[in-house]
Amino acid sequence: MELSREETEERPRNDTVSDDDGDDTPMLSSQALEALKEFLAEQNRLVAEAPQEEEVALVSEDWRLSQFWYDRDTAETIAREVIILCRNVDSPSVACIACPTLYAYLKKIGPEVSAQLLEYDKRFEQYGTEFTFYDYNQPEDLPLSLKHSFPIIVADPPYLSKECLEKVTETISFLSRPGQSYLLLLTGEVQKERAAELLGLRPCGFRPHHASKLGNEFRLFTNYNPGTRLDGWEAE
Ligand SMILES: C[S@@+](CC[C@H](N)C(=O)[O-])C[C@H]1O[C@@H](n2cnc3c(N)ncnc32)[C@H](O)[C@@H]1O
Repeated sequence: MELSREETEERPRNDTVSDDDGDDTPMLSSQALEALKEFLAEQNRLVAEAPQEEEVALVSEDWRLSQFWYDRDTAETIAREVIILCRNVDSPSVACIACPTLYAYLKKIGPEVSAQLLEYDKRFEQYGTEFTFYDYNQPEDLPLSLKHSFPIIVADPPYLSKECLEKVTETISFLSRPGQSYLLLLTGEVQKERAAELLGLRPCGFRPHHASKLGNEFRLFTNYNPGTRLDGWEAE
């Protein structure tokens, strides 16, 4: 509802809502004030009734498996980025290494996206043929059908150790499709130098957050410049 010009025009002082203190504060007429109240009530009603995007139902975190789920904003931001990347490649398919929340949001936002979740926690067998059991200690112990099959890979290793990132790097090499592969790594800031050495990754401005508050600073590293998305690559 718009306020008509008439409603917003100045009116005689006796037709305004005034606190009678005689100052020069602009006043609305009582009719304009009523119209404004109706307008705001209508806006509030529309916002309240707007369909909300559903949150994805997740299994509970098992901290013994180093499970810390992304918060919704983080999961949706990364999922949208992956969907944009899918438009840049032929026959897109996405490997989600140890990031089940991302997989779940990806399938919610882009159900048509072909994706494979590689995970240690067998509760995610619920995803059927899109689940592959994965233990980073056996980095290449994976079905041959997955070898060099993925132009887009997202990984969130369970531990912040050198050994874990080296092994996940082996898995990434196994999965990457020859030619350009887009790689996104979510891990602690402490892995910055190693991520650059092992995988040629640089940190983005976007900061991943988790549903539970973590003591470690988390970062998103990519092997491509996301430009204005993900708050860009951090300056070197
Ligand atoms: C830091 S969490 C990343 C989860 C991500 N933040 C998300 O919300 O989807 C690490 C993941 O590694 C998995 N994990 C634990 N032990 C593993 C192992 N030995 N090999 C591979 N993955 C493992 C956990 O189940 C968990 O999903």
